[in-house]
Amino acid sequence: MANPIESLPRVALAALPTPLQPLKRLSAALGGPEIWVKRDDLTGAGGGGNKVRKLEFLLADALAQKADVVVTGGAIQSNHVRQTAALCGALGLACEGVLNEPLPGRGPEYTVSGNVFLTRLADATVHVIPNTADTAEYMKRVAQGSRAAGKRPYVMPVGGSTPLGAVGYANAAMELCEQMDDFDTIVLATGSGGTQAGLLGGLALEGSEARVLGFSVGAPLERQRGKVLDILLGLAELLGVEVPEDAVIVDDQSVGPGYGVPTPEVKEALAMAASLEGLYLDPVYTGKSMAGLIRHARAGRFRAGEKVVFLHTGGLPGLFGYATELSAGAKKR
Ligand SMILES: Cc1ncc(COP(=O)(O)O)c(C=O)c1O
Repeated sequence: MANPIESLPRVALAALPTPLQPLKRLSAALGGPEIWVKRDDLTGAGGGGNKVRKLEFLLADALAQKADVVVTGGAIQSNHVRQTAALCGALGLACEGVLNEPLPGRGPEYTVSGNVFLTRLADATVHVIPNTADTAEYMKRVAQGSRAAGKRPYVMPVGGSTPLGAVGYANAAMELCEQMDDFDTIVLATGSGGTQAGLLGGLALEGSEARVLGFSVGAPLERQRGKVLDILLGLAELLGVEVPEDAVIVDDQSVGPGYGVPTPEVKEALAMAASLEGLYLDPVYTGKSMAGLIRHARAGRFRAGEKVVFLHTGGLPGLFGYATELSAGAKKR
């Protein structure tokens, strides 16, 4: 069967394939599944991370529509906005990022360091709005303003999670199947839902029966499943595949008090990945999915020898927004 992804416009931005590496010391410490990591933190462009794969298709669409400015949004420490800003710069497009202020209680570096700093460095125009404001509504207003100024805006939803963006992860699933043909489960952090939907679409294209286990980073279980399903519906149509609804598996037990709030389990996951494998995770996304993987392994929820691929979706810059908070209580010599 012809690969339907090949007929879609795409700009080559990512350094692919990303490495697939065994996590032997972590696997031994957990004494259960055989854990591997798919290094999508190393997609290269814009500091790396999962959004680069989505942006290959979304920015090709923006260019096809002759857009000259991309409007998108997220939280103040948004990896998506940082990657979009950087890749827009590389393609000669302007970028307007709408960023929600954090809830009170974050350290002083949260609003200036990490992703927001890198977004500004890539010369994006940053609009900081209150946490309670409607990001999509504000993005619409920014687009209206730029239209009124004679520009051609392209509005990209939060997280780049549209069926077209998710195609980037269908492609990633196919890449993974090329690298390893007998993995059982992919573990990932699921937020706006496009990454999980994309993986499911790609596995369906491959005829693979591997499981995709998404750890929610904020939304309760049914709401998160709904987000993934919505995107999957459009993606399945785009790719001409069928994916059963029960393939969307979400666990919301790593969320803790809410989006962007690290729990003790997340701190342990960050420390285990760094000290056992030299692998840096972030407290908002990959820390939560690794905390979930560790919890499932300890509870015997993976078979002995089950091949589990942990998708490292990036996010390292966000760690620096938490330096004060996460250093409290750290080991001193
Ligand atoms: C580092 C990282 N991991 C995972 C995700 C979740 O991906 P998605 O929004 O496609 O569910 C994001 C989204 O912003 C992210 O920045």
